[in-house]
Amino acid sequence: MFKKILFPTDFSQCSDNVIPYLKKFKDSGTKEIVVLHVIDLRYTGYVESASWFGEVMPYFKIDLFNTMKEEAEKKLKSIQKKLSPHFKVKVRIEDGVPFKTIIEVAEKERVNLIAIGSHGKSNIEEMLLGSVSEKVIRKSDKPCMVIKR
Ligand SMILES: Nc1ncnc2c1ncn2[C@@H]1O[C@H](COP(=O)(O)OP(=O)(O)OP(=O)(O)O)[C@@H](O)[C@H]1O
Ligand SMILES: [Mg+2]
Repeated sequence: MFKKILFPTDFSQCSDNVIPYLKKFKDSGTKEIVVLHVIDLRYTGYVESASWFGEVMPYFKIDLFNTMKEEAEKKLKSIQKKLSPHFKVKVRIEDGVPFKTIIEVAEKERVNLIAIGSHGKSNIEEMLLGSVSEKVIRKSDKPCMVIKR
């Protein structure tokens, strides 16, 4: 039923919780998983410097992106290793606003399901959902599976 699934990850514990559930989809016919990490330079700890320095020195912004990309590539590789015995796995790193990019990639990749963590890196106790998962669920036309923390 869900032949192709998008798994957006911020590499938090909450998003790691999605992985064991993904594996269970093998028996119901899932063939491919797209694992996506979105690098959002505006909301990193480097916010000010990234946007301000980025204006003055565009190379700084590119450099920062490349550093974060290298980190993300390592983490994505380890997720790919866990999933590739079961599925065809495609990894993607994009630069953008996470919720928008997740929705866009889900459309472009024509996935049948988005499997997302209820919370992510912030993991604020009082919040029912993180802001990224909330916006994805609210705005995407795709079915979403939310895995609780
Ligand atoms: N940058 C990202 N790239 C890919 N997926 C992401 C990203 N950020 C969040 N997600 C996905 O959304 C889920 C929920 O994370 P979210 O960011 O909404 O929660 P939070 O970090 O606790 O709250 P907030 O970001 O609003 O402070 C994560 O488990 C992950 O699946
Ligand atoms: Mg977050």
